[in-house]
Amino acid sequence: MKPVLLVVEDDENIASQMKWALSDQYEVLLSSNAGLAIDIVKNNKPHLVTLDLGLPPDPDGSTEGLNLLGDILEIDKNIKVVIVSGNSEREVALRAISKGAYDHFGKPIDIDELKYVLKRAHYVFSLEKEYHEMEMALHRSIDGEIIGSSKAMLEAQAIARKVATNDIPVLITGESGTGKEILARYIHQHSRRNKNDLVPLNCGAIPENLMESELFGYEKGAFTGAHTRRQGKFEGADGGTLFLDEIGELPLPLQVKLLRFLQDNKIERVGGKGLIDVDVKIIAATNRVLKEMVSEGLFRDDLYYRLAVITIDLPPLREKKEDVLLLANHFLLKYSHYSNRQKYLSQGAMDSMQTYNWPGNVRELENKIRRAITLSDGIVISSKDLGLGLIKDPEIIYDLATAKQMLEKKYIIEALARHKGIASKVSKELDISRPTLTGLMKKYGIEYNK
Ligand SMILES: Nc1ncnc2c1ncn2[C@@H]1O[C@H](COP(=O)(O)OP(=O)(O)OP(=O)(O)O)[C@@H](O)[C@H]1O
Ligand SMILES: [Mg+2]
Repeated sequence: MKPVLLVVEDDENIASQMKWALSDQYEVLLSSNAGLAIDIVKNNKPHLVTLDLGLPPDPDGSTEGLNLLGDILEIDKNIKVVIVSGNSEREVALRAISKGAYDHFGKPIDIDELKYVLKRAHYVFSLEKEYHEMEMALHRSIDGEIIGSSKAMLEAQAIARKVATNDIPVLITGESGTGKEILARYIHQHSRRNKNDLVPLNCGAIPENLMESELFGYEKGAFTGAHTRRQGKFEGADGGTLFLDEIGELPLPLQVKLLRFLQDNKIERVGGKGLIDVDVKIIAATNRVLKEMVSEGLFRDDLYYRLAVITIDLPPLREKKEDVLLLANHFLLKYSHYSNRQKYLSQGAMDSMQTYNWPGNVRELENKIRRAITLSDGIVISSKDLGLGLIKDPEIIYDLATAKQMLEKKYIIEALARHKGIASKVSKELDISRPTLTGLMKKYGIEYNK
């Protein structure tokens, strides 16, 4: 297929000459004004555009042309726009380039030269396109991928693959940001249901009175305002997976209805007159301890036992420190396009990530890396860039000099106590001179009052 070239030119003579000369290599489309040019850009998606800046209603100026350039790039920033201008417009042409035009070309037009410029423009266009496609594919594969070589994560994935082969409900538990949703999607992707949707519903985000119709849908006339029949999430997920996030927030009356579905795979719309069969796998998630909620009467025990047959518990990040660096490098790659260079972690950054206790878990790690990629100046990300500079725990981490000083201070205080402050005995025991002892006591602010 020939590359598509749009020629924007209000001089009919020039336009038809160009079309005649370029048609063997390009599919040439013509426009003599901005409005038509925009329609063509939207509908025919040209790869290349030659743009005469002097267009009506301003054929001697460049305003209309420059505006059109902006509009074209707004629609598709990958289009290569070559400005065609008279010699007197050279300065304007350069301005156009600073606004994103690919190149500029002087009138009168030398067709061979123009062919050469267009050929090069198209070459760059194809390279960029290939690059974007590769990058997209990379991000797609990176996106749903679950990273982790800790025992807990390997186990979680193994169970996930197993439960993906059947229709038994799954309960995923874990603190906020530990990866409950990404695991739910992983299960869905590995199941026979992956041609259909995973439909997420956050049970805590919807007011109780709307929750039932949200889940089960309603019939026309079920309540004031129900002008038409509407499907709920269950029917939307038919053939696929319904992901019930924050299941602990599901109101008790709806817990009954969910339990009923789990028993016979049927639902009833609000105001409905009969049961409807739906084929849905339920994956529920919570960061609360459901068992405690059961004993407090906030969660039905029969539903709990039905849901918890297969429970996957995701550990907090602080309990799988061996995954921290793997995840960090994964996110460095995932967000590498935030900067024009691939960035790396300094040793200090890696150390501080190991000691930090990650209350926000993987989500927090992901956000910190994303932020650091943007904030760091060079290619190396420091612990300060991560916002972990001040979080080192002084109880645990010492450099050698500090450790030595602390030990010295401790020894002197203890010896002074043993010898009731008699300096000669202390210096003898510690094998240092009297002036050294006095110096150290001063240095560490030790006083001994007999
Ligand atoms: N093992 C992992 N590998 C790669 N990315 C992960 C992993 N775990 C979590 N993430 C990423 O961390 C972020 C948070 O994960 P997710 O939304 O699944 O957590 P969650 O447990 O559902 O949190 P919340 O309870 O706050 O909803 C997401 O961007 C997800 O892609
Ligand atoms: Mg979640």
